[in-house]
Amino acid sequence: MYPVKRPRRLRQNAAIRSMVQETILTPNDFLVPLFISEGKGQIKEIPSMPNYFKKSLDLTLKDVKELWAMGIKSVLLFVQVADELKDNEGTEAMNPNGLMQRAIKAIKDAVPEMLVMTDVALDPYSSYGHDGIVEDGQIINDSTVEILAAMSISHAEAGADFVAPSDMMDGRIHGIREGLDEEGFIQTGIMSYSAKYASCFYGPFRDALDSSPGFGDKKTYQMNPANSHEAVKEILLDIEEGADIVMIKPGLPYLDIVKEAKAISEVPVSVYQVSGEYAMIKAAAEKGWINENEAIIESLTSIKRAGADIIATYFAKEAIKLFGY
Ligand code: PBG
Repeated sequence: MYPVKRPRRLRQNAAIRSMVQETILTPNDFLVPLFISEGKGQIKEIPSMPNYFKKSLDLTLKDVKELWAMGIKSVLLFVQVADELKDNEGTEAMNPNGLMQRAIKAIKDAVPEMLVMTDVALDPYSSYGHDGIVEDGQIINDSTVEILAAMSISHAEAGADFVAPSDMMDGRIHGIREGLDEEGFIQTGIMSYSAKYASCFYGPFRDALDSSPGFGDKKTYQMNPANSHEAVKEILLDIEEGADIVMIKPGLPYLDIVKEAKAISEVPVSVYQVSGEYAMIKAAAEKGWINENEAIIESLTSIKRAGADIIATYFAKEAIKLFGY
């Protein structure tokens, strides 16, 4: 009698479904982005990211303790820099007493085992809001790489475990690795944003940090969303240059790239579920058009199923509560 093979046998109740489930999320999967501002007792909801906050360092420390208690092993730091501290070279990025450097130290003091990763790019520090130095309307590659290396050294000195260059300049992984090694930071890791696309989904993040480009767009350094072979090139180059972890960004619209990255990469693959992905789920859920909790679990599970070893997500806390850890 037909059919002999009935795939629905393995879906007929929750017990068998859970036993054959291929992809399981755990707190070890998540990297939590944190937005940090100056001051004390400051907390500000990001308008385009409901229920996600930018906080001063004192309040951030409370969060980090809570995250560690929930089983989160790593945070990714972003800082809001005052306009008057911004310039073309991102000088403030190297300030040993800058907000980023103070944040790294304070977090490592409060929760020494928490892995601290730091965003490395000029945009929050740039008077032009670009990830590199601007000359005659162009983003200058090689002098930017020197600054990124100096910035990475400054983060390592403050105690960062990993630096995460998100700028997409050519040769920056090599420049940063060489810089760190020369200063003796041989154990400081590099998580490279290897295939970072010029995406509209970063909009809410740029609102959060007031880091939108002042002119033009980021298409001369971030990748064209239409390309996938180019992602392979970028990933292999970064591994050759010394990246310890490679990243694909954004997440959900780029799962084909994630799958390909996992197939070719000898280092772990991380994926960033970005601010716009968060905002879309929140907005649709607010309207009652999708179920927020189910969307959180489904989107994160899909990212992991596609090949992510690590997922940077604004939903980490919710996800952990939802899958019952
Ligand atoms: C900075 C940076 C951006 C993001 C991470 N690092 C913004 C950008 O490149 O414009 C985006 C993160 C998000 O949207 O959640 N270079």
